Amino acid sequence: MKIEEVFRERLNRHHDELRWLYMELYNNSDMFAELCDQMYRFAMERAAEFRRLDTQREKAPGWFRKNDMLGMMLYIDNFAGNLKGVKEKLDYLKSCNVNCLHLMPFLETPKGRSDGGYAVADFRKVQPELGTMKDLVELAKACHKKQINLCMDFVMNHTSEEHEWAKKARQGDGEYMSRYFFFDNPAIPREYDRTVPQVFPTTAPGNFTYLNERGSYVMTSFYPYQWDLNYKNPRVFNEMMYNFLFLANQGMDIIRIDAVPYIWKELGTQCRNLPQVHTIVRMMRMISEIVCPGVLLLGEVVMEPEKVVPYFGTVEKPECHMLYNVTTMATTWNSVATRDVRLLKKQMDIVNGLPKDYLFLNYLRCHDDIGWGLDYGTLKSWGMDEAEHKYFLNCYFTGNQQGSESRGELYNDDPVTRDARFCGTTASMCGVESAVYERDEEKLSNAIRLDLMLHAYMFTQSGIPMLYSGDEIGQLNDYAYRENPEKREDSRYIHRGSFPWKLAKLNQEKGTLQERMFSGLRQLEEIRRSRKVFDSSTATYTYDVKDPAVLGILRENEEERFIGLFNFADEERTAWMEEEGVFTNLITGEKGALCNVTVPGHDFLWLSRKKEEK
Ligand code: GLC
Repeated sequence: MKIEEVFRERLNRHHDELRWLYMELYNNSDMFAELCDQMYRFAMERAAEFRRLDTQREKAPGWFRKNDMLGMMLYIDNFAGNLKGVKEKLDYLKSCNVNCLHLMPFLETPKGRSDGGYAVADFRKVQPELGTMKDLVELAKACHKKQINLCMDFVMNHTSEEHEWAKKARQGDGEYMSRYFFFDNPAIPREYDRTVPQVFPTTAPGNFTYLNERGSYVMTSFYPYQWDLNYKNPRVFNEMMYNFLFLANQGMDIIRIDAVPYIWKELGTQCRNLPQVHTIVRMMRMISEIVCPGVLLLGEVVMEPEKVVPYFGTVEKPECHMLYNVTTMATTWNSVATRDVRLLKKQMDIVNGLPKDYLFLNYLRCHDDIGWGLDYGTLKSWGMDEAEHKYFLNCYFTGNQQGSESRGELYNDDPVTRDARFCGTTASMCGVESAVYERDEEKLSNAIRLDLMLHAYMFTQSGIPMLYSGDEIGQLNDYAYRENPEKREDSRYIHRGSFPWKLAKLNQEKGTLQERMFSGLRQLEEIRRSRKVFDSSTATYTYDVKDPAVLGILRENEEERFIGLFNFADEERTAWMEEEGVFTNLITGEKGALCNVTVPGHDFLWLSRKKEEK
């Protein structure tokens, strides 16, 4: 079929619904016609090899749901200097079994006012130090040759104040002012502030910024230099969709839609998760299925479970392909601090009960802080107070609590309410940093055991596990950001250190921290990708083993019954259970009956029975 015909067919499939939603939101048929023309243009411009992938993937729509998927997220400069450097390091990523690479934001952004790249000044230009669009396309092609998918951010809620639209708006050009939220007196901003919570209450309080030279206020939900875009203006929607398609056409496989719940604002609401957000995401899904159906949408929805799930849309009208399993992540660390898996089990039961079509991205740490978004209703029914509990968690993870070897720093702490979020690398949170510092071998072994147990538990969940670069060698917190005036105020930089290549080389030297982590993870990854029981379509349940510190997970398909046991306590515990048949310990290869098994402190067991062995 000719590419024009393929395009027409895909457009026809979605045209009516797309037009309907567009008109509902904008009631502007000229702008809709323009959108269709541009979709055609981007479809024709799409390189032949990316079009080939589109066709393949349309034929195998579940291509990204397999148990061999393993992601890693990294900063280009920290990892390899620039895009060309990343291309040279793909073999290292392959050695980590990674086949899905999320590059942290790399588009043009002003120095010192970049929010780690999330303040984009030009959606079509790579930050010069990191390379060019050509380098990006070459990297995408090199990744595809090695069966690695490439993921980038699409920061759609706001632009940098240095974006050309913002510059023109600042000069008073009405056309461009209407692409943002401008107010010439504080009355309406004050109204908004009454209902809109703050994202960065300490580092960037409020939701508006006063522009001296204009004498007006502009909406800035994040940092003052990140101006919120006004999606009520169809010009904003159209232009941002063109940027989205432009980026997709550089060979991206996954596009992470940053801060998506925030994109629609309505006075008198919280300005989060409004119905129009879902209309927009649904339109994006259709637009990408028309132009670049091989591209997946990953929604960044850092919210409680009831808010997250609607971003999958419905079976007939899907929105995102994948979402972050954020509450499970935060609840995991809660279990680490409390040695109690009850809340985690409850959370996992919710996720396991969702349709298998919903694909989650599982992770222990990412580039952001951990906000303590837990199920406080349940905790309250167990007699725990939200503020007190958050305070406990923050004391625990900063190492100011008995029994804690964790190291890290608070984020956006409010001395009045004592509310705060937390930053630190996985290894530092697990106690590796304090053990290395104290040169205490026993502590180090315990910390590595905990770190590996958490990864094993993450790999046991359904979905795509996403490693944070450096975690594969136990990278520690990096305190250098404190000396850098551009980063000092933002403690998230503690876990955004340069990748220590010298230490990484030690991953081949038996007995080093790096080797223990690296080979431990590799074994887990290899087991995971070789067994269908880890496929996200597999029936998965928690398994009650009658000890509040031990989490049991059961995965079962026609051939195999898999049980994972994870001990969150420091000391040995018993998983009270009785299973029929002979189980194999997948790590040691030992075989035996499964009845009331003991699990060493902070350790795990991966046990499996092939059905015919019963
Ligand atoms: C997302 C990013 C975060 C950034 C924010 C604003 O939440 O993960 O790093 O600060 O969006 O773009």
